Amino acid sequence: MGRSGLARTANSFGWSATCSRLAAPALETRKLIFSKPTFIRRRGRMTNAQLGALSRLDPFLMDPAVDAAEVFNRQAPTAMEIGFGMGQALVHFAGCHPEWNCIGVDVYRPGIGSLVLQCEQKNIKNVRIVESDALSVLECLEDNSIELIMVFFPDPWPKKHHHKRRLVTPAFATLASSKLNPGGRLRLATDWLPYAETIVEALQGNPELHGGISDRWPLRPPTKFEERARQLRHCVQDFCYTKVR
Ligand SMILES: C[S@@+](CC[C@H](N)C(=O)[O-])C[C@H]1O[C@@H](n2cnc3c(N)ncnc32)[C@H](O)[C@@H]1O
Repeated sequence: MGRSGLARTANSFGWSATCSRLAAPALETRKLIFSKPTFIRRRGRMTNAQLGALSRLDPFLMDPAVDAAEVFNRQAPTAMEIGFGMGQALVHFAGCHPEWNCIGVDVYRPGIGSLVLQCEQKNIKNVRIVESDALSVLECLEDNSIELIMVFFPDPWPKKHHHKRRLVTPAFATLASSKLNPGGRLRLATDWLPYAETIVEALQGNPELHGGISDRWPLRPPTKFEERARQLRHCVQDFCYTKVR
């Protein structure tokens, strides 16, 4: 099965099984600690340009089970954005840091088209895309292999009975931290105060991660989620955690 095929195989949870490293025991663990998918596959309105870009997606796709150094054909620090939405933050980061390998993970097809389009228009060569559930993708990665994980405006799932769908949990903290190199960073932002509290609770409890609320990260460009937060007079909060060991 080719790379793109791997990234699109449905597993028994109805999510995408992403890589060959996802053996049965890993899936069993996953089922226990992440009981619900953190997203609903939204179809969204797709522009013709995004649709066209999706037909040129293949060179951007990567199998997360394959070492990033092999995928990018170079040893370089690796950044991963989970839930890149329309791709602005990843494109901005990759453009500012051509010396990094940048991986975007999302399942939102108009956003994937938008990311491909921006990379083409800005001649950005250091971005690869995994169209799959980020938790499965993280599980595929080698431990201690990433310098930076970004999670900006994760879906807030505001209703109490949906909280179990939230991405950032103690289990996420453990998983993300295991994939970071010592000294690697996890950067997040949200405008949803109850989620900010969830983030602090989940990450503060992890002995490998030190940090907390931070100033706005200058490399995080404003997206429509930030614009909407401003309109709603929500306070946008950034977080930065460093893996200390
Ligand atoms: C609220 S949007 C934020 C998008 C972007 N970060 C921004 O700030 O504009 C959340 C994004 O996360 C994606 N997402 C949520 N859970 C995910 C998961 N488990 N795996 C991959 N993508 C996920 C959604 O598809 C959506 O694009």
